Amino acid sequence: MVDLSVELSGIALDNPVIPASGAFGYGYEFAEWYDINILGSIALKGTTREPRFGNDTPRIAECACGLLNSVGLQNPGIEAVLGQELAKLKRVYSKPVIANISGFSVEEYRYCCALADRTEGIGIIEVNISCPNVHDGGMSFGTKPESAYEVTKAVREVCGKPVYMKLSPNVADICEIAAACREGGADGLSLINTLMGMRLDLKTKKPVLANKTGGLSGPAVFPVALRMVWQVYEAVRLPIIGMGGVSSAEDVVEMMLAGATAVQVGAANLKNPYACKEIIERLPKVMEKYGIDSLKGIIGGAH
Ligand SMILES: Cc1cc2nc3c(=O)[nH]c(=O)nc-3n(C[C@H](O)[C@H](O)[C@H](O)COP(=O)(O)O)c2cc1C
Repeated sequence: MVDLSVELSGIALDNPVIPASGAFGYGYEFAEWYDINILGSIALKGTTREPRFGNDTPRIAECACGLLNSVGLQNPGIEAVLGQELAKLKRVYSKPVIANISGFSVEEYRYCCALADRTEGIGIIEVNISCPNVHDGGMSFGTKPESAYEVTKAVREVCGKPVYMKLSPNVADICEIAAACREGGADGLSLINTLMGMRLDLKTKKPVLANKTGGLSGPAVFPVALRMVWQVYEAVRLPIIGMGGVSSAEDVVEMMLAGATAVQVGAANLKNPYACKEIIERLPKVMEKYGIDSLKGIIGGAH
């Protein structure tokens, strides 16, 4: 019997596979298709203090080996997420989940994280300082070490639960941002968010997305994500939730060898709602094939 279990900042996970924020709704929607209790955990859709309608449509553009999204943090606001949405999820899922918090000011991050910290059922607080689809917030905090430090420190002060800062790949040196988050008191790091991109419609000769630009994710970004997980693992030695293009059990093993303790799966769920289930079911066979007894034992093993 192979051992799939891992531990993220003291939280035991049956396996490292977690649906990524924004690509799995609030989780309970997927309980119609399979028993979601097989998942290691679930990252909730990105949440802000106030309800947000998100960007104008179209906000999805297909690409070879991936997609662009410019959803723009559509959500009903922190109180509805931690109230109604989490309550619906708890009816069908019994493990600790990951809150994903976004903001347009340090104060908003702090407010939302403090609420998440007091909410039963939230195990980890993932702080998104890397959303490329909103103006004056999101990614602007995660592309400079000073502001990444400032947000981390502010949420650290109000959180007893583990804080994972979610990093942007749209930077020259991701290790510099990772180090700033560690200085600010982060318990771990989530990476990567989407890569800024765009597409044009040849008929209209204009951008496909109403927002003009969007975030690229899916298999196309896997090698970039893997490289960043590798570099950040060497640079800061904090636990890492690795993501970006993961769509198979082999990808999970590769991410963990590069340094991830757990792995999130985003775009793959949009193509195939059973993606996480199929990955979890195939993991033991892939581990056996490559002579791996325990996933815990391979974290950072390629270094
Ligand atoms: C439609 C969509 C919505 C997303 N919304 C969020 C979000 O609200 N918060 C966040 O931190 N990341 C969000 N992401 C980014 C993913 O969580 C993930 O970091 C990224 O897509 C890379 O993983 P993937 O290649 O497996 O999709 C979103 C991604 C997609 C495709």
